[in-house]
Amino acid sequence: MTPLTWSDNLAIDHPQMDRTHEEFVALLANAAAALPGADAPLLQAFDELITHTVEHFAQEERWMAATGFAPENCHAFQHQAVLGVMSECAKRAREGADFEPLRLAVDELAIWFPQHAQMMDAALAQHLASVGFDPATGQCATPPQPAEALTGCGGQRCG
Ligand SMILES: [Fe+2]
Ligand SMILES: [Fe+2]
Repeated sequence: MTPLTWSDNLAIDHPQMDRTHEEFVALLANAAAALPGADAPLLQAFDELITHTVEHFAQEERWMAATGFAPENCHAFQHQAVLGVMSECAKRAREGADFEPLRLAVDELAIWFPQHAQMMDAALAQHLASVGFDPATGQCATPPQPAEALTGCGGQRCG
């Protein structure tokens, strides 16, 4: 399968998120490059991807929390599900020497990520822009109303 590489098509016009996503794509490419090789370097590359993904998702979730999203929203649920699968794959590789799920996950993540970025992350970027959110200060120029906590992701197909 063709490895996922960073391109302008993946950019969602939010410099900080784009930078994080570029790092995600590079770490996923490291794992994909390790697929034909030995198990240990593959697991190490996948562990590095998990460590980065924990903060990548947490950063987006902090921004959601600061801009009127309810804690239970579909974007955060998807993060939880993906990270849960990634962690389980690493656990099975580490504890059971079963690398099959991890190898599949590397390929699946390359399919999942562009869709997630272009739908849920792009919707979040639009929402952040609409409330004038500044990631440096955590402040909104137009603070959202607490009564309107968002449980969807803001994506066109979310509802
Ligand atoms: Fe993201
Ligand atoms: Fe996300």
